[in-house]
Amino acid sequence: MDPREQLRIYLEQRRETGETELVLDRLSIDEVLRIIAGEASVARGTAVAAAEAAERVHPTSARAADPGTGDWRSALLGAGVPQPGGGHKPSAMPPAAMPVSAPQPPPVEPAKPAGIPRMAFPQPGHESESAAAVVEFKTGLVVGAADTQLFDSPFAHLESLDAIAETVKSCTRCPLYATATQSVPGEGNPNADLVCVGEAPGANEDATGRPFVGEAGKLLTKILEAIKLSREEVFICNVLKHRPPGNRNPLPTEVEACSPYLVRQLELIQPKVIVAFGTFAAQTLLNTKSSLSQLRGLVHRYYGTSLIVTYHPAALLRNPAWKRPTWNDVQLARRVLDSARQGP
Ligand code: URA
Ligand code: URA
Repeated sequence: MDPREQLRIYLEQRRETGETELVLDRLSIDEVLRIIAGEASVARGTAVAAAEAAERVHPTSARAADPGTGDWRSALLGAGVPQPGGGHKPSAMPPAAMPVSAPQPPPVEPAKPAGIPRMAFPQPGHESESAAAVVEFKTGLVVGAADTQLFDSPFAHLESLDAIAETVKSCTRCPLYATATQSVPGEGNPNADLVCVGEAPGANEDATGRPFVGEAGKLLTKILEAIKLSREEVFICNVLKHRPPGNRNPLPTEVEACSPYLVRQLELIQPKVIVAFGTFAAQTLLNTKSSLSQLRGLVHRYYGTSLIVTYHPAALLRNPAWKRPTWNDVQLARRVLDSARQGP
């Protein structure tokens, strides 16, 4: 597809979801739409010329792009659209393809709660040197003992994810069912090693009954791809199973009513790693008021399961500067997953 057309469609979608800024460039959507409509003098030549120029400037990003879609950022650059701060700054996590083999970024310096012991995990790929090659992950909060039943869950009788989904469908434990179109119980691999937990369904999720299918969801899919996981391999769900009207923040009463479903889902799946996307999921699962920046970069334990916290993909759409730290976080999740798969 013509990269300009691709970009136009993308921007229209973003505008529909209420965004006003381009993810990577501090240009307004209207400004960029004017540029690609040829109203600005910076737009020159054909889309093909733009793409060719982009290929010269950023051969790898253009090559890495999905061949069916082209790389709209390269096209923009090729069309001479000025980049913020002068030069072109490569994205930490370009939508087309994240740099899976990129050099390791500088280590995150996380807040470390005092007095919490460090925990050792074996390093992946060094079985023969087991004792010597031990990677230490900084351990964070510990919620629940590994060998306890998660809760006296009101849903202990629900023996499968499908049974949970069925129950959620007709749930009236909080008033959200009345304003939502349908429930969004979550989806994915019932035997997933990694579970992604978000906040609550948005408009797209409410309309489809599926988690993370809007713009944030597309970004989540790319984040997973960056650590070589597909949506089908993992399980994706939210703390709340019905959409709060107007995407308002969930109320404590709603969380209290709904979170047992999440707990039961985790109990049945028994993943090796949980990734909490956003403050809300993190604070709910870890039962803490600590900020996201305090919780990031650590490996928490949730009833014996490693839990890693990162930014919500919707927040990344608003603030692209958080893509790099998110990249670090999901790399950490990947390393913990690899270690856990390798066994003790
Ligand atoms: N945001 C979320 O937290 N969850 C979704 O499913 C979609 C958007
Ligand atoms: N709006 C939605 O409904 N879902 C998303 O994931 C993002 C925006």
